[in-house]
Amino acid sequence: MNNYTLRRARAFEEKYRDRADPGLQPRFHVTAGVGWINDPNGFSIYQGEYHLFYQYYPYDVKWGPMHWGHVKTRDFLHWERLPCALAPEQPYDKDGCFSGGAIALPDGRHLLMYTGVRNVRRSNGLVDNYQTQCIAIGDGLNYEKIEANPVLDEKDLPAGGSPIDFRDPKVWFEDGKYWCVVGNRPADGSGSILLYESEDALHWQFASVLASCHNQFGKMWECPDFFELDGKHVLLTSPQDMDSMGLEFHPGNSTLCIIGDYDRERKHLLRDNLQAIDYGTDFYATQTLETPDGRRIMIAWMQSWESSGAKVKELPFFGQMTLPRELHIRDGRLVQNPVRELEAFRTAKVKYQNVMISDETNLQGIFGRFLDMTITVRPGNKNKMYRYFKLNVAKDGERATMIRHKPENNTIRVDRSRSGFPHDIVNSRDFPVAAYDELKLRIILDRYSLELFVNDGEQAASFVLYTPVSADSISFSCDGAAIIDVEKYDLEV
Ligand code: FRU
Repeated sequence: MNNYTLRRARAFEEKYRDRADPGLQPRFHVTAGVGWINDPNGFSIYQGEYHLFYQYYPYDVKWGPMHWGHVKTRDFLHWERLPCALAPEQPYDKDGCFSGGAIALPDGRHLLMYTGVRNVRRSNGLVDNYQTQCIAIGDGLNYEKIEANPVLDEKDLPAGGSPIDFRDPKVWFEDGKYWCVVGNRPADGSGSILLYESEDALHWQFASVLASCHNQFGKMWECPDFFELDGKHVLLTSPQDMDSMGLEFHPGNSTLCIIGDYDRERKHLLRDNLQAIDYGTDFYATQTLETPDGRRIMIAWMQSWESSGAKVKELPFFGQMTLPRELHIRDGRLVQNPVRELEAFRTAKVKYQNVMISDETNLQGIFGRFLDMTITVRPGNKNKMYRYFKLNVAKDGERATMIRHKPENNTIRVDRSRSGFPHDIVNSRDFPVAAYDELKLRIILDRYSLELFVNDGEQAASFVLYTPVSADSISFSCDGAAIIDVEKYDLEV
C-alpha cells in the first residue's frame, strides 16, 4: 500500500485506538474508540458478516478531513474494529471521503461508493466543496480507489443541480441492475434525491429525480436511503435547515421518512405519508441493509450536529451509532424496534405486575445502567386519567433523566438536562404518541445513551447521556394514579 494518509491513520489506530480503555466506551454501541465519527456508511453484508463504515476523523474529537472508519459484526452488538478503510488523498477526494454505501459484487469483491470532496477557493475568499461520486473496491479489509474515479460528476446532474451539494450515494441491486440514490440541491435551492442506474456498479447513468423537497421540508436532503418495506416504498433522508413543524419536526438538522408507492415507469416516489424518523435530541443520517432472513435494519448517527461541540473532556471519542433497529410499516407509519439479537444478551429478569404508582416509588431490583426495560402503564383510576406519569432513570442525588407521559395532550417528554452534560444544549423533546388504553415504554440504556421505543416502536427517541454509571437508580411517580407492569433485564453484551 503506498497511501501515506491511510497508512498514517492505521498507524495512529494501532498506537491509540486499539488501546482505548473499554471502561470509557459504550458496551454495545459503535464509536471510533479514539476520534470523531458521524454518519454510518457502507452498511452491508459481505462474506457472511455485517460491515459498517463511518465518517471518521481519527486524530481529534472534532470533525476534520473525512476518512472511512470500519467495523464488522455477526450479531449487531459485538463489533470488531478494523483498520481505517478510506483516507482523503486523491485529487478528487483530497478534502474528504464523505458518506456513501457499499455492496458485495458477484465476483466476491466489496464495492464502496462514496462522495469525493475537493475544495476550491472562490474569488471572494470563501471555499466551495465540489462533490463527485467515487468508488473503491476491496476484500473487506483493504480497498483500492478505481482509476475511473469520479464515476459521477457535474455532467451527470439534471439541469440546475448543484455540484457543491451532490453527495451520499446509497447503492443496492434490484431487478438485475444496480441503483443508487444521491442527495442534491436543485435550482430552487432546496433538496432532491437523484436516482442513478448501472449494469455493473461501475458505469452509472442518471435515471430520474426520485423525490423533491420544493422548499417544504428543510433544504439540502442528506444521506438518502430508498427501499421496499411491507409492500410500500420508503425514502429516509436527513434534511438540513428544517423549520420546526408542530412536534413532528424539530428545527435544524432533522430527519424525514417518506412512505409511498414507487412509480416504476417514471421512477418516482408518490408520497402517502411523511413523518420524523426519531424524536430524540440525537439522531441523524440513517442507513439500512436487508438481512438474509429479510429484515430491514436501520442504524444512524446517535448525535446531532447542533450539539456536536458538547463534549466531555475525559472521553477520547466523540459520536456513537444507534442500536441497529428492525423496521416495519404499521398503519401507514414507520415502526422501529431494537434488533431481536439483543434478546440473547438479556439476563437477571425482574418482573412486576399491577403496581399502583402515585407518589415517587422505587421498586426493589429495578435499577441499572446497562438494561432493557419495558414498562406498561394503565390509568389507576377508571374515572379519572392521571395528569402525568413520570419515570426517572440514570438517577442519583443530583442527576436524573426524565421520561414523562402527559395524557391530556398525548405527549411524551424526555428531559436530559440533569444527565451529565457540562453544556447548556437542547436537552428536552416533546413528541406525540397515540392514545391507547395502555402505554408501553421500552428503554435501552448503555453507558452513554438512552433509546426509547414507545408502543412497540411507533415512536423512537434517542438521547446521548453522560451521567456517570454510578447513577443507576430508577423511580416512578404519577400525578394521579397509574398501574404499571415492569419487565427489566440487565444487558450482558
Ligand atoms: C451528514 C453529512 C453528509 C456528508 C457527511 C460529511 O451528516 O453532512 O451529507 O457526506 O456528513 O461528514
